[in-house]
Amino acid sequence: MELKEALLKRRSIRKFTDEPVSDEDIQTLLHAAMSGPSACNKKPWEFYVVTDGECLSELKKASRFTKIDSKLAIIVCGNLSKALPLQFASFWIQDCSAATENLLLSVTDLGLGAVWCGIHPMKSSEKKVAEILSLPKNHIPLNIIYIGHPNETHEPRDQYDEKKVHYVK
Ligand SMILES: Cc1cc2nc3c(=O)[nH]c(=O)nc-3n(C[C@H](O)[C@H](O)[C@H](O)COP(=O)(O)O)c2cc1C
Repeated sequence: MELKEALLKRRSIRKFTDEPVSDEDIQTLLHAAMSGPSACNKKPWEFYVVTDGECLSELKKASRFTKIDSKLAIIVCGNLSKALPLQFASFWIQDCSAATENLLLSVTDLGLGAVWCGIHPMKSSEKKVAEILSLPKNHIPLNIIYIGHPNETHEPRDQYDEKKVHYVK
């Protein structure tokens, strides 16, 4: 798929069939995620790949916006021990967001669907996800990406808005 097509086709999909995502596709998604840029190339990311049914149903309780049924979730975490020091540490959020968008575009390219459910900076949701996944203290969950074979469709769309563009010439 051309990049331009994937950019417009990527939509949040929240309903999935029961068909599992293949291991090969999961590997493709993780490769895409980790090909993203990161500040000083620190790559301060960790990916938790969840296919366990009990764990998936626990994750639905992480926030009132994460009640989604799927056979696969990837939780993108920042690894604070790999992040830049001091006031630069929070660049991990941008690094992990870039990885997440790469992953979502790869989802679209594979004909799968996904939705990005934000966890950080909601402290109580972070705590719930950390408990469910037994995360080490230095792994901070940025989001839960639910992924699967789509059971709903949304039209591709272009959200271009010239009012948001400010030329400095
Ligand atoms: C940081 C972030 C957090 C989000 N959190 C949630 C969420 O908790 N639950 C959800 O269903 N969608 C969530 N979304 C998806 C947005 O609702 C969605 O991207 C937006 O409505 C635009 O629709 P589209 O993705 O189809 O273009 C989130 C998206 C982002 C980028």
